[in-house]
Amino acid sequence: MIATRFTELVGCTVPIQQAGMGAVSPPELAAAVSEAGALGMLGTAHPGLTAASLSAQLDRLRALTDKSFGVNFIVAPQLLKHFDLRCIEIAARVARVVEFFYGEPDSTLVEMAHAGGALVTWQVGSSREAVAAADAGCDFIVLQGVEAGGHVRGTIGTLALLGEVIESVDVPVLAAGGIGAGRAMAAALAAGADGVRVGTRFVAAIEAAAHPEYVAALIAAQAEDTVYTEVFSRGFRDAPHRVLRSSVTAVEAFQGDAVGETTGLDEIRVPAKRLVAFGVDKTASGTIGAMSLFAGVSVGAVKRVQSAAKIVRELVEESSRECR
Ligand SMILES: Cc1cc2nc3c(=O)[nH]c(=O)nc-3n(C[C@H](O)[C@H](O)[C@H](O)COP(=O)(O)O)c2cc1C
Repeated sequence: MIATRFTELVGCTVPIQQAGMGAVSPPELAAAVSEAGALGMLGTAHPGLTAASLSAQLDRLRALTDKSFGVNFIVAPQLLKHFDLRCIEIAARVARVVEFFYGEPDSTLVEMAHAGGALVTWQVGSSREAVAAADAGCDFIVLQGVEAGGHVRGTIGTLALLGEVIESVDVPVLAAGGIGAGRAMAAALAAGADGVRVGTRFVAAIEAAAHPEYVAALIAAQAEDTVYTEVFSRGFRDAPHRVLRSSVTAVEAFQGDAVGETTGLDEIRVPAKRLVAFGVDKTASGTIGAMSLFAGVSVGAVKRVQSAAKIVRELVEESSRECR
């Protein structure tokens, strides 16, 4: 296994963090990743997030693993008005890591999570934001390049950004965006990252909750089939994201206000409004192809459905081979 400042800090054996991906990354995925020696993350960007529904998810996760795991929160200012800050306190009491994404790094949120006993990180898209996150008290930083799937904060390539961020902060740094295979992981570690964060590849894990049509589309796609866009911006504006190009074509052709329905964390069925970005999980019904099918340029590394443990093992073995 590869020990880095990140693995020592969070207490895992593999320098890989699975991305928290809303409804797509349930407790089962986070637990399986953590059991495999990496850092599993619970996604919370999901309709129906409340103190009660989060506690239930954390109970499920704790029952599945006693290893370190993290909880991810999207804290964009335009979304915070619907967010119950007690969720941060609840997560910080049980998770090793509380992570924030979006918005300006905020020391109040960092202190709130530290007070519960968790380490804190912020996923950032520039070296200026990385410095702000370190100044806000984050214990490590995740930098996200423009290759990433999902909402994308970075505007330059992952390796270029890594070079800038490593020069700017002293805390451990993870690289995210376009890393789905061992070679890319080896490149990021060789370029000085303390670990990598992997999203798209884990969408096709057995333990993930992604809709099977979405997984099939990822398996069929290559990097050039993704697009960086703002098409799925209803309710969350000025927030670029990377999705499969086919989903943009399909939603543009779709007539009607809702492309289908999905179930929130509170078990309530809600409409999946056209052009709203969300994690397309197994509870989604309707025109799946016209939903926000998030995918990074790493999608070419998604070749089959595999267990999370197998994905972690393959990444470690391939990257170790490349590092020799
Ligand atoms: C399906 C999906 C959902 C995502 N949801 C979130 C999220 O809720 N919170 C977050 O911080 N990042 C989210 N991301 C972005 C990831 O944190 C990460 O930056 C990205 O997956 C890295 O690029 P990769 O997909 O090429 O591995 C999501 C990514 C994907 C693919």
